[in-house]
Amino acid sequence: MDREYRIIVTERIDEAGIQYLKEHAEVDIKYDVPYEELLKIIDEYDAIIVRSVTNVSEELMKAGKKLKVVGRAGNGTDNIDLDAATRLGIIVVNTPEGNIIAAAELTIAHILAISRNLPQANYAAKQKDFRRNRFNGVELYGKTVGIIGLGRIGSLVATRLKAFGMRVIAYDPYISDERFTKFGAEKVENLDDLLRQSDFITIHTPRTPETMGMIGKEELKKVKKGVRIVNCARGGLIDEEALYEALKEGIVAAAALDVFVKEPSYEKERDEDFDNPLLNLDNVIVTPHLGASTVEAQYNVGYSVAKAVIAALNGEITPNV
Ligand code: NAD
Ligand code: MLT
Repeated sequence: MDREYRIIVTERIDEAGIQYLKEHAEVDIKYDVPYEELLKIIDEYDAIIVRSVTNVSEELMKAGKKLKVVGRAGNGTDNIDLDAATRLGIIVVNTPEGNIIAAAELTIAHILAISRNLPQANYAAKQKDFRRNRFNGVELYGKTVGIIGLGRIGSLVATRLKAFGMRVIAYDPYISDERFTKFGAEKVENLDDLLRQSDFITIHTPRTPETMGMIGKEELKKVKKGVRIVNCARGGLIDEEALYEALKEGIVAAAALDVFVKEPSYEKERDEDFDNPLLNLDNVIVTPHLGASTVEAQYNVGYSVAKAVIAALNGEITPNV
């Protein structure tokens, strides 16, 4: 053990990460700990390691009198109050590259699944219902996919969809023209152009006040009838109520969602508190925030975050957010 550091881990990370932490510090694992309980015990810890659920608020960090480091095993930091961390002198480290392949591949899987009705057909066939005429799909070849946010994951999605013979267009006002060219995407100047042209839309922006609800009721009036929409980024980027209506009206033919505004517990066998009408639609397929759930990605983010947190506690230079 380096020093007498205590670290709390509030969401499941790879065993390799836990082992590394235990070699250097005292570690408490409290998956799914309720916020109020965490608030009471956080002052015992020098560092906290989270994924996307734990609300690392200003209140929590203030209560963490000894808290020096917040480690995010994964990519998005929208559950951490970064401004407050800066004010309080708390270092935030994340692992932005570790799960991007996994997230991009899940997006491709979802695009294929909604183009060919795979989950619905799988379910029917297992019930011995082989009426395949109900599951006629569409091909990706020759279709236009609109990518919103051509960052780390969006660009991986772009190059993979090019291999399917798709026309790739992208909307991202914050990147250079060279980046569009590099990933074989045609730049569109505004979101409306993307909405009007796309047969498939996939969103890969961070969750910020600007991006929340960026596809809402008005935007869904502008899409091609029969568009298919995928969200493997963050819940709420596509307004859930507006999407529900558009799916019911057949404006959106199908949607694939890995993320929701409010997500259930990842630890309970069944979470009765999760009551989202989108789950009741046959043309919606869902996964339980699986974007980073591969053996490779979990090893990458679990081990990297553990190393980064220990390095930060020991005052070593570590890339931080
Ligand atoms: P990134 O920061 O590399 O890329 C985001 C891109 O979005 C940037 O290029 C940025 O310029 C662009 N952008 C920002 N605001 C925009 C706007 N208003 N309109 C258009 N483009 C905008 O992020 P990333 O690593 O590619 O991650 C993308 C998303 O995926 C994040 O929300 C992240 O949290 C999420 N994610 C989800 C999972 C999962 O398990 N489902 C896994 C990893 C990442
Ligand atoms: C991320 O932003 O890295 C993802 O949400 C994956 C996760 O933490 O589960």
